[in-house]
Amino acid sequence: MARAFSEIAFTPAVRAAQERQGSAKVYQKFLAPEAERADRIGPDEAAFIEARDGFYQATVSETGWPYVQFRGGPAGFLKVLDDQTIAYADFRGNRQYVSTGNLSGDDRISLILMDYPNRRRLKLFGRARLVEKDDEPGLIDRVHVEGYKARPERAVIITVEGMDWNCPSHIPARLTREELEPHLAPLKQELGRLQAENAALKQMLGAAS
Ligand SMILES: Cc1cc2nc3c(=O)[nH]c(=O)nc-3n(C[C@H](O)[C@H](O)[C@H](O)COP(=O)(O)O)c2cc1C
Repeated sequence: MARAFSEIAFTPAVRAAQERQGSAKVYQKFLAPEAERADRIGPDEAAFIEARDGFYQATVSETGWPYVQFRGGPAGFLKVLDDQTIAYADFRGNRQYVSTGNLSGDDRISLILMDYPNRRRLKLFGRARLVEKDDEPGLIDRVHVEGYKARPERAVIITVEGMDWNCPSHIPARLTREELEPHLAPLKQELGRLQAENAALKQMLGAAS
């Protein structure tokens, strides 16, 4: 657990809850000046971020409501621009623009990135800047995944302020269709071989009777 993340997440009310529940002492050390800040994206985080094909994103509305939305795309659509910056192309969708509107009033954003098969998750806090396509076309080209069938409207550039690797507890080890395919391929092959063998045996039995 990192100091940068704890400084944002452990508000006075959170610290009070930790006190009541008896975990305050354990978490106090992550707020100590000597604790590692860990607010920079290292090679492990970068590889994890760039392998994702989706993430959950929370923004804050002007009435104070949290708003969570899933953003999906081809693996690698969430890009690491440098050790403090990640970005993605925001595609045209249902045109409600809830996240876009929220971020125009409050740039605070929180993402949770899931790796279900390996039961890993990375949480991060950041501040988002929205860059409309027409304002900086070169930027969209940089963050959009070439060939993906979606219409990018803007780039969402996130300056990361804190990160935390969450423990694997209670993460179901589910696979996407693409992740499942290499496991299914040998089974399909074996099924085909058995079906052919079965047909040949049936034919032999038919011929013998
Ligand atoms: C035609 C159409 C296309 C969509 N394409 C995407 C997409 O490529 N990726 C995605 O995460 N959501 C897609 N969505 C779902 C939402 O529209 C999208 O997540 C949108 O950005 C929601 O933003 P908001 O909830 O912040 O308003 C699509 C929806 C529609 C109706």
